[in-house]
Amino acid sequence: MAEESPVPQAPPSPRSEQSPSVLRWSEPPEGPVVVLLDQRRLPEEEAELVCTDAPALVEAIRSLAVRGAPLLGIAGAYGVALAAARGFDVDEAADALASARPTAVNLARGARRAQRAFRAARAAGADRAAAAGATLAEARALHAEDAAASAAMAAHGAKLLDGLLPGGGHRLLTHCNTGALVSGGEGTAFAVALAAHRAGRLRRLWVDETRPLWQGARLTAWEAARRQMAYTLLADNAAGSLFAAGEVDAVLIGADRIAADGAVANKVGSYPLAVLAHHHRVPFVVVAPLSTVDLATENGAAIEVEQRAGHEVTEVRGRGGLAVPLAPLGTRAYNPAFDVTPPGLISAIVTEAGVVTPVTAEGLAALCASSRQA
Ligand code: MRU
Repeated sequence: MAEESPVPQAPPSPRSEQSPSVLRWSEPPEGPVVVLLDQRRLPEEEAELVCTDAPALVEAIRSLAVRGAPLLGIAGAYGVALAAARGFDVDEAADALASARPTAVNLARGARRAQRAFRAARAAGADRAAAAGATLAEARALHAEDAAASAAMAAHGAKLLDGLLPGGGHRLLTHCNTGALVSGGEGTAFAVALAAHRAGRLRRLWVDETRPLWQGARLTAWEAARRQMAYTLLADNAAGSLFAAGEVDAVLIGADRIAADGAVANKVGSYPLAVLAHHHRVPFVVVAPLSTVDLATENGAAIEVEQRAGHEVTEVRGRGGLAVPLAPLGTRAYNPAFDVTPPGLISAIVTEAGVVTPVTAEGLAALCASSRQA
């Protein structure tokens, strides 16, 4: 069950570099819990959501209290650890978590990895408590690996940008939210922009508002403000005129799943940006950990794109979660959560193990193979 408890603290300070923990394991006397920063309530308030079992975590994932591919993987693993520690059915929890959302491959990977750790410990003769400990250790390892991957992607990405854009400061356009809110570290695409900012190389971060759930406006702007980055928010449909005015030097996005051919599923609205970037000869760069690369998915057409409820398009959530209608009652809406960008429109894929450019099936496979050997 999830219990909502606002964190007692001063009103959010957009000038503070210190980010609250987005996901942590806690062991109060009543038993272990997974504590999330409830992303549905940002930027209005920094509230914690306390999950005491896997079904609560599944609901938090579906409703986007916790979201973003790498963090979904971490949440999946801790959810299985929670089921193990509280004596619930671990296989049932792993199944429910792995299928809570279909597109980000990280989620199922994280849940299954923790499930394997539990099974392996049991098979080796560990009692239930020791197996639960091994499962938690696996979740913690995944969490730490993601933080390390984030730092490595930031370094590779910043170097790539400096090579692609040798002139003055970079003007980067980003979509959705890919920062510390989605990661054990500082994120994926956003971490690259942050590295450029720290190096004094970021002239402007253009932030797409990201309809219909406003991850750009609510979350990326919140992160950019905390980091004191030079950022400007735009309506998604203003991107075309921004490119036409020559104001974008590169596009940086994350990914939810990268197929074997290099096709990238990411937040809906990414594909139109890739088309615009191609037309205007602007580099279109995808930043994602290898945990997002799924060589078992042959191509973009084989990626399952999550379809979400129409009310996310026909209504907007006001203060206190109040639904305000945007369209006449009964209006039907098309609401895919993601779209797929073909490899031919992608200039480079930045991972923790290096950069794939041009984006080809062979290049991607070689990078994955080299990292397995490392
Ligand atoms: O529906 P969301 O908010 O989970 O979608 C998130 C995205 O599309 C991100 O761009 C993606 O997960 C990459 S984050 C590193």
